[in-house]
Amino acid sequence: VNAERPVRGTTLAMRTTGSIGEMQALSMAARRAGRRIGLVPTMGYLHAGHAALMREARARCDLLVVSLFVNPTQFGPGEDFARYPRDLDRDSRVCEAEHVDVLFCPEAADMYAPGSSVWVEETALSAELCGRYRPGHFRGVTTVVAKLFHIVGPDVATFGQKDAQQAQVIRRMVRDLNFPIEVVICPTVREADGLAMSSRNAYLSDAERRRAASLYRSLCRAQELYAAGIRSAATIVAAVRDVIGDGTLPVDIEYVEVVACSTLKPVEDIREPALLALAVRVGKTRLIDNAVLGA
Ligand code: PAF
Repeated sequence: VNAERPVRGTTLAMRTTGSIGEMQALSMAARRAGRRIGLVPTMGYLHAGHAALMREARARCDLLVVSLFVNPTQFGPGEDFARYPRDLDRDSRVCEAEHVDVLFCPEAADMYAPGSSVWVEETALSAELCGRYRPGHFRGVTTVVAKLFHIVGPDVATFGQKDAQQAQVIRRMVRDLNFPIEVVICPTVREADGLAMSSRNAYLSDAERRRAASLYRSLCRAQELYAAGIRSAATIVAAVRDVIGDGTLPVDIEYVEVVACSTLKPVEDIREPALLALAVRVGKTRLIDNAVLGA
């Protein structure tokens, strides 16, 4: 059984299961054998950013579990749940290449019993930034991540800095609900032109893909201004908007904000490290990115 796998990174076959009961049994066996469990929660369509999360978790555990579940409760009406890219064969190959021990891919009907009525909700950080535009999104995220934590029982879980607000919300949930889990936030992995890796990049046409690179350019401009001594959030936000807006293909800027890293509340003058976060629609695709100013 993979739960008793003796050596890290050996060529033992990866176990793929959709069964919550089997996942729990594998985790229990691993724990009884004194093994550290690492979890990388994903919605699949894996890319190099996910692979980096797996490597970070792998280095900190003995049994590496990747969950793959396109979680319906974190998508709002009219969002892209139905068309979210899915390719289990491709994802399995990525996981095997990263020496994943267990690929856990449950069905929605098993994760959410009919009439499910219990939610896990973080109410402060979730209300800011994306929370204003995606009501209920973070409640769906915290609920499913709490469920995955209960099912897998990891010692460590890795998340990406690209989803900075999600990472903070999950950290808060772990703190406030006393999950004995170390949450590790890993740096954003970028394409050659700086675009943050995301499963949703697959939606972009060639022209949109080129246009999307302006998001990273805008973050670089903000870092330049900060390095030049600019501390006014309004000045930095205006410069970021200019860079993103500069192109023939129109894009729709949902928000650009400079917020305190700990509260995600807007700041006017940057006196300590602050998060510059943005969400932009390029065509029908909503992209997010961020940078820490003064890190
Ligand atoms: O970041 C994601 O892919 C998802 O929000 C997560 C954390 C797997 C929960 O569904």
